[in-house]
Amino acid sequence: MSRSISKYKRSLVDYLRILVYLVAVFSFVVLALTGFYPVLVLGEHITGYLVMIHATFAPVFAGCLAVLAVMWARQCRFTPGDLPWFERLVQRLTLTEGDEARQNRNSCLGQKITFWLIIFLALPLGLSILLSMFTLFGTYWQEMLLMIHRYTAYIFTVVVVVHTVLLLRMRAK
Ligand code: HEM
Repeated sequence: MSRSISKYKRSLVDYLRILVYLVAVFSFVVLALTGFYPVLVLGEHITGYLVMIHATFAPVFAGCLAVLAVMWARQCRFTPGDLPWFERLVQRLTLTEGDEARQNRNSCLGQKITFWLIIFLALPLGLSILLSMFTLFGTYWQEMLLMIHRYTAYIFTVVVVVHTVLLLRMRAK
């Protein structure tokens, strides 16, 4: 009975994780479309309804990212098995024996790196816009902060795409 409850509990957490992930992906797509469309297609700054949609999905996205960071941090921590070739080199140099099973494990280092990059890039992405809303900064710095937001968003998008490709490749294996 208790085993079946723990099984049920585990699957609930898994469903929650998938739900948060899907909401995060959906809000990211909305943010990217509403942010990049005026800049890249129309050649102007984001205005009107697009700002409203962008600003509505931004806190949803930030919240989901915070939850995912907590849920996946343990899974994405760096371990000695992440660089098997380096471990083998150290063993050869120090003439010691290593854990063969751990070295052969598929550790998906790229996925871990892109995960942490997403988490760290979210800080300048959010902070740049938050700071630009304070009257503390003059027009020059507000423009600069918006530019930081835009360029961080470009890098952020590339990292998200690489992370998704690695995730899909891993699932397909
Ligand atoms: C962390 C959550 C985010 C917040 C709080 C946020 C907030 C904002 C706000 C308020 C603006 C309008 C700024 C203005 O016109 O003065 C803006 C613009 C923009 N955002 Fe975001 N955003 C977030 C995430 C994202 C993401 C994930 C992307 C793309 C992947 C993105 C891409 C853009 C772009 C390209 C612009 C237009 C910049 C420009 O007009 O030069 N944002 N954002």
